[in-house]
Amino acid sequence: MREIEKINHTGEVPVMEPQRQFYFMDLAKQYVTQISRKKGRPLTFHVTTFGCQMNARDSEKLCGILETVGFEEIDSEEADFVIYNTCTVRENANNKVYGRLGYLSGFKKKNKDMMIALCGCMMQEPEVVEKLKQSYRFVDLVFGTHNIFKFAELLVRCFEEQKMVIDIWDDTKEIVEELPVERKYSFKSGVNIMFGCNNFCSYCIVPYVRGRERSRKPQDIIREIEKLVADGVVEVMLLGQNVNSYGKNLDTPVTFAQLLQEVEKIEGLERIRFMTSHPKDLSDELIEVMKNSKKICRHLHLPLQSGSSRVLKEMNRHYDKEHYLALVEKIKKAMPDLAITTDIIVGFPGETEEDFLETMDVVRQVEYDSAFTFIYSKRTGTPAAKMENQIPEDVIKDRFDRLLKLVQDISAKKAGALTGSVQDVLVEELDEQQEGLVTGRLSNNSVVHLPGDVSMIGTIVPVHLKECKGFYYMGEVAE
Ligand code: SAH
Ligand code: SF4
Ligand code: F3S
Repeated sequence: MREIEKINHTGEVPVMEPQRQFYFMDLAKQYVTQISRKKGRPLTFHVTTFGCQMNARDSEKLCGILETVGFEEIDSEEADFVIYNTCTVRENANNKVYGRLGYLSGFKKKNKDMMIALCGCMMQEPEVVEKLKQSYRFVDLVFGTHNIFKFAELLVRCFEEQKMVIDIWDDTKEIVEELPVERKYSFKSGVNIMFGCNNFCSYCIVPYVRGRERSRKPQDIIREIEKLVADGVVEVMLLGQNVNSYGKNLDTPVTFAQLLQEVEKIEGLERIRFMTSHPKDLSDELIEVMKNSKKICRHLHLPLQSGSSRVLKEMNRHYDKEHYLALVEKIKKAMPDLAITTDIIVGFPGETEEDFLETMDVVRQVEYDSAFTFIYSKRTGTPAAKMENQIPEDVIKDRFDRLLKLVQDISAKKAGALTGSVQDVLVEELDEQQEGLVTGRLSNNSVVHLPGDVSMIGTIVPVHLKECKGFYYMGEVAE
């Protein structure tokens, strides 16, 4: 049991957000000070993130609050406050969390002030929370995706209640702006432009755990990016499950292409990326805006999922093979230097060898620069989980291996197309493998290693791409 002296709540608790959370941050800070005095050292925290870029961005918000209330970040899970921001898109994402929780409980035995929190998509599933209540009693705090903005308030409850605090909401319409954020990189940042998803692809759990689609107001997005740029950010990644349907439900509807044009105007911002584009909503307007833009990167992630029109229909994707191929054709014609990447699922219920060969055919025709390939994972509650004809594991494995080989052969063939040219590189970090080198990215997202030092991090430099080694370039700063 933690020994904590309850601190009196003074004044009225604000009802409005974000003021309410700032009030609780102040209280949490007093608790952190109290415990750290007793321990004679600062309290530490560690955030472990599973899943997609949305979760990564959410984790930066958690870090922002933890730092504001006085915790110090460390690079180990042997910290005073450990939080897992979870993903549930595939079954193995869940299993990882349970596995690691067991090992965390060992740390807690050694440090009785330790607090363990779980949040993110997995917590939106009632059976997960039930299992935690039954078998993982040492967890202190459980919350979901819709109330992450309440983190400071939940933290205070956790200090005061000394029992497992669970707060899960089914959905929310609220978007709370202006809470603190601690960015992982000083020079680039994710920016949420929308939350949730309305597409209900039949295999996918995201709409159930992230709720309905909500777009942020363009003014709020622009204001956030302007602040980021003033703080040294040169590249933003606009985030949404389907950015192409951005703005449709705003009081004054705005298209994603219009938003991009506004973002482009921000002085000092050098690069714009975005993720993810659903093929069904990708407009000619967007292609035109990308083509004419100086800042939008030459990379488009365009998930295919399957090349079979029959399977796509079962997946509820709202496009067919022909539409997808025609779209890619149009995009390539407008921007021949654009890198195209994708996501593909192998072994969706009822997928026949013929269906699979259609997927292989699209991969051959599009020639993706790279592709994420996934084995279909049955998610309870989704329509596909109830479909008959789930595909046997050995058949899936065989298809998966054939697809992966094709994807890799094509990537290898495409890599290196820019060898010999001079391209802008955003230097991101010191090379992990070799001293004296730094690592950066081209506009098309390819990785480049070049001689350099820490002073170059966060700057964009012209680089002569001398050689392509497999999937990355070696280069040097061009004179
Ligand atoms: N909103 C994005 C995808 C988010 S999930 C989009 O529509 O493209 C990221 C990827 O996980 C998906 O593109 C899909 O390929 C994969 N995925 C989602 N559910 C899955 C499941 N049940 N089994 C296997 N892969 C899945
Ligand atoms: Fe899932 Fe489809 Fe929504 Fe993407 S668009 S998050 S795959 S339901
Ligand atoms: Fe996973 Fe949630 Fe992202 S389920 S992929 S972390 S939206």
